[in-house]
Amino acid sequence: MALKDNCGRPLLNLRISITQRCNIHCAYCHREGEVQRANSSAEKMTLEEIVRISKVAVSLGIYRIKLTGGEPLMRQDICEIVRCIAAIPGLRDISMTTNGILLDTLAKPLFKAGLKRVNISLPTLNLETYNKLTGGKLENALAGIKAAIEAGFSPVKLNMVVLRGVNVADVPEMIEFARELGVILQLIELDPVNVSREYFVKHHRLLDEQEAILRDTAVKIETRRLMQNRLIYHLPDVTVEVVHPTENSDFCMHCTRMRVTSDGKLKPCLMRNDNLVDILTPLRNGATDEELKELFTKANLLREPFNKSK
Ligand code: 5AD
Repeated sequence: MALKDNCGRPLLNLRISITQRCNIHCAYCHREGEVQRANSSAEKMTLEEIVRISKVAVSLGIYRIKLTGGEPLMRQDICEIVRCIAAIPGLRDISMTTNGILLDTLAKPLFKAGLKRVNISLPTLNLETYNKLTGGKLENALAGIKAAIEAGFSPVKLNMVVLRGVNVADVPEMIEFARELGVILQLIELDPVNVSREYFVKHHRLLDEQEAILRDTAVKIETRRLMQNRLIYHLPDVTVEVVHPTENSDFCMHCTRMRVTSDGKLKPCLMRNDNLVDILTPLRNGATDEELKELFTKANLLREPFNKSK
């Protein structure tokens, strides 16, 4: 059913950037690979446009949609976006990546609208480090995490981008925190996207040491084949996922994603901006569903592993 690219990789996931706006500014943020920083407060895609693109995607076999940004909760119409996408027949999973700051008030309405799981960015539990790294207040993110758990989201995942010289030492504390709260921790290696070369060299760190410890303490290790072959370490009472994209041909070979940029372009690869396919302009010019499907098919065939096996 699903579209496949020239390497046989199925297209199952769509990540839609629904805004470029954000209420914090993380030093490491890749902005989902979008070159231009937001310069206007207006959203580029309307609710109807986002839903139309989602419907076309689902009709082509995509069954998971993630809302991302920017900060998705900056949109006033976020609950309506969730409600409309969650109602698309054939969609199995809608999720969101958020910094959690606005979840305190929005967790319940989002859950009611049909969002059942959420990823919350949390690079550290240290007040000062959090503020330095993100410009935001840790207490707000923590209140959001608590609200998400109380609202019933399952799983809640914490996204921790691990940075050399910043938060590597916080990993054990984060694992403990995840265990206490009953949430999943994702340890994410820094991507070289939209950060300076200098920043990357200074802060990039492989997660080998952390993985060695996880391997030793795990009671079970799983591989997510349709999710870039990521490893999931089941420790006693807590689960830790490791995301290791850099120079990893295995990761790319098992990529099942496409992105939609905040200005309505299909983006076949996080790492590239030379093969985008504009879908918003044709949509605004009256394209039929068939024509929109063709644009997806075209973008799908432009998907190729960024890191190829040698
Ligand atoms: N490298 C790796 N992960 C990143 N994220 C943001 N920027 C980067 C980067 N440069 C992660 C954050 C966020 C998710 C959308 O992507 O954890 O939760």
